[in-house]
Amino acid sequence: MTLKTEKEKIEHLAQLNKEAELGGGEKRIAAQHDKGKLSARERIELLLDKGTFQEIGKLVVHRATDFGLDKKKFLGDGVVTGYGNVDGRLIYVYSQDFTVFGGSLSETHAEKIVKIMDLAMQNGAPLIGLNDSGGARIQEGVVSLGGYADIFYRNTLASGVVPQISAIMGPCAGGAVYSPAITDFIFMVENTSYMFVTGPNVVKTVTNEEVTSEELGGASTHSSKSGVTHFASVNEVECIRDIKRLLSFIPQNCEEKPMDLLFDPKDETRDKLDSIIPENPNQPYDIKEVIKEVVDAQDFFEVHQNYADNIVVGFARIGGKSIGIVANQPQSLAGVLDIDASKKAARFVRFCDCFNIPLVVFEDVPGFLPGTDQEWNGIISNGAKLLFAFSEATVPRITVITRKAYGGAYDVMNSKHIGADLNFAWPTAEIAVMGAKGAAEIIFKSEIKAANDPKKKLDEKVEEYTEKFANPYAAASRGFVDEVIMPHNTRLKLISGLRMLENKVANLPRKKHSNIPL
Ligand code: HXC
Repeated sequence: MTLKTEKEKIEHLAQLNKEAELGGGEKRIAAQHDKGKLSARERIELLLDKGTFQEIGKLVVHRATDFGLDKKKFLGDGVVTGYGNVDGRLIYVYSQDFTVFGGSLSETHAEKIVKIMDLAMQNGAPLIGLNDSGGARIQEGVVSLGGYADIFYRNTLASGVVPQISAIMGPCAGGAVYSPAITDFIFMVENTSYMFVTGPNVVKTVTNEEVTSEELGGASTHSSKSGVTHFASVNEVECIRDIKRLLSFIPQNCEEKPMDLLFDPKDETRDKLDSIIPENPNQPYDIKEVIKEVVDAQDFFEVHQNYADNIVVGFARIGGKSIGIVANQPQSLAGVLDIDASKKAARFVRFCDCFNIPLVVFEDVPGFLPGTDQEWNGIISNGAKLLFAFSEATVPRITVITRKAYGGAYDVMNSKHIGADLNFAWPTAEIAVMGAKGAAEIIFKSEIKAANDPKKKLDEKVEEYTEKFANPYAAASRGFVDEVIMPHNTRLKLISGLRMLENKVANLPRKKHSNIPL
């Protein structure tokens, strides 16, 4: 077909655009909707500010010729890529189109993703990947695998330079899971997405286990059992809303700080905090109540909500400044540190440190979880991850000890000794090597045994130890605690501390990179 006039040429382009926008065609888009899924373009529309999307590579087609592919081409080749704004901020996005070869990744599909990854890096803006794909384009063989590796490599180089967020909105199997796994945050949608290295059929053949895709790698599995996903959303609309919310707390790149918001400076004391700690030190309370009382507008955006809930991590603002919160949760396993909690918090601390987000820690920790299960699965090296992550973090770091700070966990939970800038304690704090009863049983063992009434003696000794150490004053007298504060003043103290630390400069020793215990 020869196009002669300008009008014909313009109409031809309009026709090509229309064809590209239909992806695999109306029937397949309808099938996608029937599964409760949006199309690749609808997802981008939801994500970006209206009218800001600029597409790159709309007319790209694959170059494969085997298995009749030379006669089967779709403009865009199964992925929509480009850039646009979220709340006025530049972001780069790719969105896989399941209606074209099941969103499978060909050589050219990979090239399109790589192109926007390079742009995101060069221009210092977040990269968001909306994944919905049958994996490597089977007809293309090794070039497709090479395409994946090109993406993994760039994910790795971009790590810590620009924020990378992955949403899984359909299948994600085989080695394809490793791009999301390298990125900073993963979102999954319940019942319509799954991630696994090998699917249920291979599992059945190799291990004889019967398992559904949902059980093996659905959103609820990965948000609670494996911790692979940070967020599980009930549908795609909620998922995209939460991606935008996450973006609101984080900066464009590692050279920038998160945006400050205005806040209402009135009414900064929080009397409720003066009655939150139970009389009995073994009684739990909900640390999220403390967090909500302290942060702006009670607005806490929790990360990894369903995984290792003995530690709570997430984003909030205090005095308008974006912060990352790490808090022991006395309501779950008494707030003890175990393998999963240590890994969860360590990864979060490292994210915040990469992107200049100050850390606020609420500490109420009775120690590390004892037991063969923990020891044999490596609580030593996993607990060390959290210790390492805090020690290496150079962002402003403030700790508030609400109650227990026992043993090694006292050191690990952002103590002054490993670089916290400010350490506050409530008058209810107990900073000691262990709980008073355990301590008394060990150090007064023979005295208690020899007593006429060992129970009475133990109680006396517990009392003695409690008086000496189950308080914040020994630590304060050494300067390990900077100030014992009234709980109702916590918010005030944090606003002022974060302001004071705003221009903190701390440099690590020169090195190629550290070697965190993995
Ligand atoms: C080419 C693919 C494809 C693929 C799906 N399609 N996956 N084409 N390569 N990997 C095509 C189908 O042929 C079909 O085309 C269309 O996409 C829709 O697929 P359906 O099977 O009809 O859809 P559904 O029933 O929803 O099942 C989706 C699916 C299934 C579960 C993803 O298609 C599937 O199992 N695909 C293969 C998955 C896989 O094994 N991929 C390779 C993994 S290994 P038509 O034209 O018929 O509609 C891998 C290695 C990565 O990815 C390594 C990186 C290091």
